[in-house]
Parts: sequence; structure tokens; C-alpha cells
Amino acid sequence: MMGAQHTADTVEAAYYEYCRERGRPYFGRHMWASQGLPLRHVVMQELVRLEARGAGGRPIHILEVGSWAGGSAITWAEAIKRYAGVGQVICVDPWKPYFNPKDRPDAPVYHCMAEALAHDTVYDLFTHNVAAAGHSDVVLALRGQSTTVLPMLPREYFDLVFVDGDHSYNAARSDLTAATGLVREGGILCGDDLELQLSEIDMPYAQTQLHADYIRDPRSGKEFHPGVTLAVGELFGPVSCVVGCWATRKSGGRWQTISMSVMMPAEENVPRHLKSQDPAQDPAFCTWLAARQAPKARPASSFPANGSVETETCHTAEGEVRTFLERLVGLCEQGAYHEAMAYYDRHRNTVTQDPVLIEFDRLVGTLRQKLAA
Ligand SMILES: C[S@@+](CC[C@H](N)C(=O)[O-])C[C@H]1O[C@@H](n2cnc3c(N)ncnc32)[C@H](O)[C@@H]1O
Repeated sequence: MMGAQHTADTVEAAYYEYCRERGRPYFGRHMWASQGLPLRHVVMQELVRLEARGAGGRPIHILEVGSWAGGSAITWAEAIKRYAGVGQVICVDPWKPYFNPKDRPDAPVYHCMAEALAHDTVYDLFTHNVAAAGHSDVVLALRGQSTTVLPMLPREYFDLVFVDGDHSYNAARSDLTAATGLVREGGILCGDDLELQLSEIDMPYAQTQLHADYIRDPRSGKEFHPGVTLAVGELFGPVSCVVGCWATRKSGGRWQTISMSVMMPAEENVPRHLKSQDPAQDPAFCTWLAARQAPKARPASSFPANGSVETETCHTAEGEVRTFLERLVGLCEQGAYHEAMAYYDRHRNTVTQDPVLIEFDRLVGTLRQKLAA
């Protein structure tokens, strides 16, 4: 079991490197890049659609507190472009350690997040993901604590403010309080991770858990974020909420419910960057990985990179395995899967029985079945 998990983690780490190298957004398990339920992002995009409808073509300004690897920032940017055409997403996050993983020994997610923050790799992944998704033109990162940055932002300016930073009670309450002054009249204040509302929890117990991120409520038996439930409930009372994404509208200086019942999210509407990625089902990645694991190559000039598959030759010296695989990677990356199969069939038997290739044969079998289906 440990061995299987180790292999899965190694493949995931390699997939992360592959996405980085090839300029693709990465939202797999490595660094817990994808946070929360992907379905929530459907609701988030619906909120933008709602705002854009009333905006009459003017730009939509969104403020996000807490951005991690950029999953939600990309969701907002995509929705702005789709529904409003123009606008901006400002992301406030220090991308620095903000909790002690020793306080949270129960879940691996915290250790994984703490390690990524300690090595300062999350901000780097955020910028990579936003650029790879094609949204650097709309997303602006302000790297700093919300307590420092929010007071510097223009008041009553944002059409939508999304609060998803530190979920402990004091931090959540402070962020929400600051955010109320930044939403324009008629705009939306919303957030993530509201699994239970105040009336549904054992309040006295929750009040003993103000530093906690995620706990089980003894009354309902359900897991929830006590800081978010307490802060939202105290400041706004019951709010509109779908799959943990909650929202309230500023109207006449008060906060009103929003009709979110029509926003029931469907899996097929999850934004593309958050659709689950199984690296083993990605032929271009599999060939890339196999090529990386193959013995060192001879100079690249000894084989054609993008020439016709009919004219190329395969080599029989030590670089042949890499040559063979790199040619396959090139074809798969161009989406030329059938050509890749034909090339494979023509040359496979001329290449030595390297262990990497024997493993690779299995992947090719899977790809062949998928192409035939
Ligand atoms: C749950 S993650 C955000 C997930 C992100 N919104 C998404 O959906 O992909 C929480 C984020 O809050 C950030 N954070 C922690 N303390 C913060 C603070 N004081 N101000 C702003 N962001 C903070 C963390 O660095 C982390 O990136």
C-alpha cells in the first residue's frame, strides 16, 4: 500500500514538473494546488454572471482575499472575460506560513500546505498557473497580509469581494469586517467554506475552537470551519449559500440575501482548469515521463524533431530509446496520436528492450484502446 502511494506521489510530482515545463496550469494533488470543492467554482462564476448582467458593459472589479495556487483567481478571471468582457481580479495573499502544522496533526493537507509555504513555492505556482491559463492580463497579485493591504484599497469600489484567507475566527472576522467597506453599493460579498450556518451548530462548543480550521460539530456530526461559521453568522446572520459558497448583497448599506437557488452546480460546468486530471490518462505526459527516465541521449541533431514520420530513421546506439520516445512525445503533443501509434508500430521492434520501454508498452496499450473507442 505504501509502495503504491509512493508511486502515485512520484507520478503526481512528475506531472507537476511536466505542467510547469510545458506551460500548462497545474491543479493536482501536489502542494494541494486545488483547494476545496471544484463545484463551488460553478457557483462563483454564476455570481459573476449575475453581476455582469446588471453592470451594463462596464468593467467588473473583483477582490479576492486568499488565493493559494490561483484556482479561484482563474475562475474569476474566466468569468469576467466570459460575462463582462472587461475587468480585473486583485488577489491579496502573503503566500507565507500562517499556521503551525503541529496544531493540526490529523490531516496531511496541513503538512503539505505548511511545507509548500515554508519553501515559498506556492506564489511561484500561482503566477505560473495564472499565466498558463492566459489570465495575467486580468489578475493582479498584491503580496501581503490582508490586515496591511485591505485598508489601502479604494472603499466601495469592488463589485464582488471574495474572502477565502485564514479561516481561524479572528482572522476571518477581521477580513470580513474590512471587506464590508470595500464592496460598492449593490455589490456582493462572498466566501468559501461555509458548510454549516450558526443556527445549525453547537455554538458553545464552536466558541472553544476559535483557532481551529476544520472540526466536527458535536450536534450535527458534520465537519465545518468554525471560524467562518461564527464570523459570517455574527456579522450577517443567515446568508444565501450553495455547496459551501456563500454570498450576501450590499443594499442601502445593509446586507441582503441573494437568490442562489437557481445556481445548483453541475459537474460538467466545473471550469476546465479544475476538472480532475489523471496523469496516467495523458498520453503526452506518459511519453514525456518515459523519455525523461530513459538513458541519456546522443545530440538531438541525430534525429528529426518534426519531420515526416515516413522519412525518419531510428538509431540503434545508446541514444535510441530517448530518440524514439522524444519523437513520440513530439507527435502526442501535436495531438497526432494515430501517427504516434503508427510510428510506434514501425519502430518499436528496432529499439532495445529497455525497462522504461517495457513499462511504456503498457501505456501505449491503454492509449490504443482509447483511440479505438
Ligand atoms: C484556502 S486557501 C485559498 C484558496 C483559494 N481561494 C482557492 O480557492 O484556490 C487560503 C489562503 O489564504 C492565505 N492567507 C492566509 N493568511 C492570510 C492573510 N492574513 N491575508 C491574506 N491571505 C491569507 C493563504 O496564504 C492561502 O493561500
